[in-house]
Amino acid sequence: MRTDRFGRAIRSEWLLDPKVVFLNNGSFGATPIEVLETQHQWQLRFEQEPVEFVGRHLHRELREAAQTMARFLSAQGDDVVFVENATTGVNAVLRSIAPLLRPGDQLLTTSHVYNAVRRAMQHTAALTGAEYVEVQVPFPIASSDVVVEVVSAALTGRTRFALFDHVTSPTGLIFPVKQLIEICRERGIWVMIDGAHAPGMIPLNVAALGADWYTGNFHKWLFAPKGCAFLWTAPERQSITHPVVISHGYGGGYVAEFDFTGTKDWSAYLSAPAGLAFLQRLNVEDVRRYNRGLALYSQRVLAEALGTVPAAPPDMIAYLAAVPLVGWGSSIDDATTIHDRLFDEYRIEVPVFSFDDMLVLRTASQVYNEQDEYDYLAETLAQWNIAD
Ligand SMILES: Cc1ncc(COP(=O)(O)O)c(C=O)c1O
Repeated sequence: MRTDRFGRAIRSEWLLDPKVVFLNNGSFGATPIEVLETQHQWQLRFEQEPVEFVGRHLHRELREAAQTMARFLSAQGDDVVFVENATTGVNAVLRSIAPLLRPGDQLLTTSHVYNAVRRAMQHTAALTGAEYVEVQVPFPIASSDVVVEVVSAALTGRTRFALFDHVTSPTGLIFPVKQLIEICRERGIWVMIDGAHAPGMIPLNVAALGADWYTGNFHKWLFAPKGCAFLWTAPERQSITHPVVISHGYGGGYVAEFDFTGTKDWSAYLSAPAGLAFLQRLNVEDVRRYNRGLALYSQRVLAEALGTVPAAPPDMIAYLAAVPLVGWGSSIDDATTIHDRLFDEYRIEVPVFSFDDMLVLRTASQVYNEQDEYDYLAETLAQWNIAD
């Protein structure tokens, strides 16, 4: 691998502010300039003849883009539809199953769930009389078997729908989704995977996982413009799966319903293949090795700086590394104070979360990052650790 072409050597491909140590690709991703230019070309093409574009070209162009992305996901093109973001993918599924839920049914997820998804599940529970169940998964964690054990123990005869993160948001853990899907399917439980971070981060064979639904973002780790994600639906669930916004396509089938949900800017979807092409040109395997190496490095130097041991085994880590800040507070205000101090005084952009009665700091590693950025963060935290 030629890592000399990554890090600072490649950073001019993005608009990122060179004065900021940007260790948060995880929240929104960062789109390369050339992909933004492709997006702008789509917008210009649309504006030249909006009626002709929507009437004659949009559907075909969207399907071609979906086919390209589906190949990368190891899925069939017509099982994949674009949605704005993973939140929308989750909401579409929850809305679709809501009429089929009965009071007392359980909607289950884990304590590592993304908060917006937690809220959406709670809303569906409130609307339908179903019960929202959150399984506690410990962090730090010794192995992915722990996730399977605690989830298995929490499933009941009333569990109707389960949602698991492929890569967890506050803690950056790869969850053993294949096993989790299997134990749900054995019990006839609908299962959805929230893969918001997965595309571009971990190898995906979406169809082979065997879930009922899978949603993931292209804008986080696949270099696509913002507002670009997908929903994959198993063929046998497509007839009950509808978009959040019902429009002309209603009754025309899964693809027709999702491909047109009212007038909007489709350029992010149509530019997803450009994001994928950018990744492929860098070489997917080289990117994986580089980013994962950085994440494991970050996990190690931060643990050392804080006098702890890595909070998760290497096989649960991809491009995110989370470190508990033990004794640094626990509230959202405490988290904001630390985040803001790191940014205002040191120009380090890194998220800090309030999680399970503690704070967790989570670094991200993307090809534009370098080891010394994690050293700088670690040295800063070590100084505070001693002083505070
Ligand atoms: C696990 C998980 N789910 C859902 C989301 C929401 O993503 P979006 O804001 O693109 O909908 C995120 C965002 O960080 C996430 O980490």
